[in-house]
Amino acid sequence: MPTVWTVLLMVYLCIPLGSYGALVVSRDNEPQESDGSSSKVIKKRSVNPSQIEFQNVKIDCKVASRFAHTVMTSTALNKANVSQEVFFEVELPKTALISNFSMEIDGKVYVGEVKEKEKAKKQYQAAVSSGQTAGLVKASGRKMEKFSVSVNIAANSRVTFTLTHEELLQRRLGKYELMIRVKPKQLVQHFEIVAAVYEPHGIEFLDAHGTFITNELLPLVEKSVSDKKAHVLFSPTLDQQRKCSDCEGTLIDGDFFINYDVKRAQDLDMQIVNGYFVHFFAPANLPRLPKNVVFVIDKSTSMLGEKMQQTRDAMQTILSDLHEEDHFALVTFSTGADTWKSTLTRATEENVNEAKAFAKSIYASGWTNINEAVLRAADLLKTARANKVVPENSASMIILLTDGDPTKGETNPEKIQQNVRNAIGEEATLFCLGFGFDVKYSFLDVMAKENNGLARRIYEASDAVLQLQGFYNEVANVLLSDVHFTYPDSTVNSVTISKFKQLYNGSEIVVSGRMNDIEMNDFPVEVSAQSLDTEFVLKGQASTTDWNIIFPDQEYIFGDFTERLWAYLTIQNLLDKKDKGSPEEKQNATAEALALSLKYNFVTPLTSMVVTKPETEEKPEDTLIADKLTEDERPEVKASSGSSYSYASSPSSSGISSSHFHNYHSSVNWVDSDPHFIIEFPNQNDALCFNINDKPGTIFNLVKDPLTGIIVNGQTIGDKKIDPNNMMSTYFGRFGIIHAKLGIRLMVTTQDILVSERGKQEKFYWSDNTSVKGPNMDLHITKDRSLTVTLRNSMKFVIVLHKVWKKHPYHQDYLGFYTLDSHLFSQRVHGLLGQFFHGITFEVSDVFQGENPDKPDAHMFVKGHNLTVTRGWQKDYRKNVKEGEDVPCWFIHNNGTGIIDGDIEDYIVSGLFKTT
Ligand SMILES: *[C@@H]1O[C@H](CO)[C@@H](O)[C@H](O)[C@H]1NC(C)=O
Ligand SMILES: *[C@@H]1O[C@H](CO)[C@@H](O)[C@H](O)[C@H]1NC(C)=O
Ligand SMILES: *[C@@H]1O[C@H](CO)[C@@H](O)[C@H](O)[C@H]1NC(C)=O
Ligand SMILES: *[C@@H]1O[C@H](CO)[C@@H](O)[C@H](O)[C@H]1NC(C)=O
Ligand SMILES: *[C@@H]1O[C@H](CO)[C@@H](O)[C@H](O)[C@H]1NC(C)=O
Ligand SMILES: *[C@@H]1O[C@H](CO)[C@@H](O)[C@H](O)[C@H]1NC(C)=O
Ligand SMILES: *[C@@H]1O[C@H](CO)[C@@H](O)[C@H](O)[C@H]1NC(C)=O
Repeated sequence: MPTVWTVLLMVYLCIPLGSYGALVVSRDNEPQESDGSSSKVIKKRSVNPSQIEFQNVKIDCKVASRFAHTVMTSTALNKANVSQEVFFEVELPKTALISNFSMEIDGKVYVGEVKEKEKAKKQYQAAVSSGQTAGLVKASGRKMEKFSVSVNIAANSRVTFTLTHEELLQRRLGKYELMIRVKPKQLVQHFEIVAAVYEPHGIEFLDAHGTFITNELLPLVEKSVSDKKAHVLFSPTLDQQRKCSDCEGTLIDGDFFINYDVKRAQDLDMQIVNGYFVHFFAPANLPRLPKNVVFVIDKSTSMLGEKMQQTRDAMQTILSDLHEEDHFALVTFSTGADTWKSTLTRATEENVNEAKAFAKSIYASGWTNINEAVLRAADLLKTARANKVVPENSASMIILLTDGDPTKGETNPEKIQQNVRNAIGEEATLFCLGFGFDVKYSFLDVMAKENNGLARRIYEASDAVLQLQGFYNEVANVLLSDVHFTYPDSTVNSVTISKFKQLYNGSEIVVSGRMNDIEMNDFPVEVSAQSLDTEFVLKGQASTTDWNIIFPDQEYIFGDFTERLWAYLTIQNLLDKKDKGSPEEKQNATAEALALSLKYNFVTPLTSMVVTKPETEEKPEDTLIADKLTEDERPEVKASSGSSYSYASSPSSSGISSSHFHNYHSSVNWVDSDPHFIIEFPNQNDALCFNINDKPGTIFNLVKDPLTGIIVNGQTIGDKKIDPNNMMSTYFGRFGIIHAKLGIRLMVTTQDILVSERGKQEKFYWSDNTSVKGPNMDLHITKDRSLTVTLRNSMKFVIVLHKVWKKHPYHQDYLGFYTLDSHLFSQRVHGLLGQFFHGITFEVSDVFQGENPDKPDAHMFVKGHNLTVTRGWQKDYRKNVKEGEDVPCWFIHNNGTGIIDGDIEDYIVSGLFKTT
């Protein structure tokens, strides 16, 4: 089979809330299929990056009245004299819809076509069964999803990818945000981010900043803001992109943000263009309505640990932020529901303090009875209203926080939704916060939307407290309730949702519709609502906006933006509707949403974009497909806090997004059990792990440092007898450790510890409790548990003894080896563990459902290899030799293929103190 050359060109592109960048260039040797397991391992070697030239990367965002239209273009030239595969990867915000994609190769343009998802799938599957395919949309972190395609490009040919997507920017906490992720990982000849914002009502403020913008790059961010329009340009030259004058590394690596707000006029903020209208509503300077809020908090067993702690912490701040005129209640639930107080309570300082103390004492245990808890909350609100405990003019809401599906009481999701709908009866809004990924998000989403609220996912990460508080801040200040928009039927039709239960400070309501007659250019509008002391009424006359007059010097921006905005909003309304109502209503909503998606070329959860990749000499025609995911199709990892794939940003759109590649230092590495190797990065709270399976008796080199003269080898032992129900396991039974410079040698077996220092020998037994301090070595034995050795100025390690019941039919005693302090090794340290002592750079992306539903898979790009890895757990036995402590880690299949240099054969040595 000939060697296949592959150039990976990964470009994450701009977006309002988008990203661009990351170019990885590497060469493919032939794909190596290993054992029969599902994982694919592709070996790659670095190739001269000059083989592929990034001539142009451009991100062009235009925002007209909050409707963002982004075109991302990337041109690459294959300078090699062989054809190469070029990958194009773009990250889009989840709320954006792809509306076009094309590739231009040798002057020929291939354009993607939007098709009904089922039809596209058939076409795609036919292609899959006839050959190779690639190109999919996958979840990528909290805010993004990733679109990727690849195409084979002939020698000295050029490819230009162009992707367009659209999105209505949402106002949160007083501003809109465009996030542009730039991670080219390489220098780009012409790199440009250009954004233009057109707001006919005037721009209040506009900021442009970025996580990667250093003092040198700052002057290159050009920003000009006039009354109604703003321009932002960031276009560093090749040299300005350089990390240092003589290196190829790029400074462009992070997120670029544009935040702005528009002026709030007292009159209507309305655009009528080409027969479609859009109405924006966010009146300024309104007083807050008192609120009646019931917090419904899950304390079932699954919340145990960090989630419960984060919830307790978040509640402290949230409760403190209540205003004195607010009323509140706390309902906690597991197998049943409990209330802090049996009625709604005024948020006086004293009551809040009492509630905070209660919140501190919430502990997790039991099942998940969502039904009973939410019904209890609805009942508390109803009783308070009936007894006039709460002010007449106040806004009621229920905030439900849960991390699991209902397991107790009523567990049928539809029944619960129905019960909740009946109990709340339009009297309150319901917000559902799904904590982590054990919870079926669509269940919460539908339930919240049926009660005029919304659902949010809270990602299990160290910033969960901020996520909870951030969400609460968005809805904490209700300005109006029962907001109704009225437009004359004689003038407009197909109006999107026009009744809203509550308006929150810092947010915005958007309504859009179609004119009956395109020639009609004005009509009366009325907005009515309940405000603090009065009936809020806004009446006005909407009239056609002539964008050519407001923006005379601009060429026509995208004149149909009101129509596309209307289609975008209508599709979203219909997609929400397709999950509720009678079967016929659902069917109608689905059919309508599909028809609009096809008409406007949007990739929605009902459609797919199909791109037919041209045939080349090496490869037949290929069909690519781009989909839109729904929340429940996003299997994400149950993350330990702050790990590499969880994106550190709060939903309050303050938007910090973490980088993709991680260079991890300061690791703790160990091998234990039937040998499980673990590379842990305690500071990052993440770990990599792999197993080595070979026949008993094999001796492996674990550490070899030619400069300090340290060698650690380990010999495996098998079971006493083969367990007929299980595979033969191997463990480490003996370790040989040499420190040549200090003249020290240790042999540790499951029986004893033999130390020889400069020719002098001493033997210790595991049954001793011994501490020996010497000039070059400290040694400490904890009886029948562990041996800790500190070698002067070079190394500290622990060997754990696993004692197995003497009469165990199969297993026997074995050892585990943990290095604690690895930074004193030289840069040349190697071996199965040693090669990781100075850190490792890896990227985890595209977390997806693997074979085992409990253990998601992901792609890991490490040491030039693209591996499929699985999220799993291993154990650290240092503290508790019996049970161990769980350490979540990314598992690399097939004897660590791809993460260890070379093959496991390369680490086999001939003796316990040998190096070959
Ligand atoms: C392609 O380039 C390589 C080195 O870059 C050279 O060895 C080889 O002969 C070239 N092949 C052809 C067909 O030109
Ligand atoms: C999609 O892009 C192609 C190529 O740039 C263009 O010719 C076509 O008109 C676009 N289609 C739509 C629906 O905008
Ligand atoms: C609404 O938010 C603005 C800041 O975005 C703040 O100045 C104002 O006081 C808030 N109003 C209320 C009623 O909370
Ligand atoms: C569904 O659509 C059909 C055909 O357009 C229409 O006759 C029917 O009334 C609709 N049903 C509902 C419940 O909207
Ligand atoms: C051995 O030392 C540990 C502490 O290092 C102590 O807890 C234990 O009781 C000692 N055992 C014996 C048998 O002395
Ligand atoms: C790794 O391979 C998968 C398909 O096997 C692909 O989707 C992904 O983009 C690749 N990632 C990198 C970084 O090459
Ligand atoms: C690991 O390597 C050994 C020896 O080469 C081999 O026998 C075994 O099948 C491999 N295991 C896996 C899972 O690849």
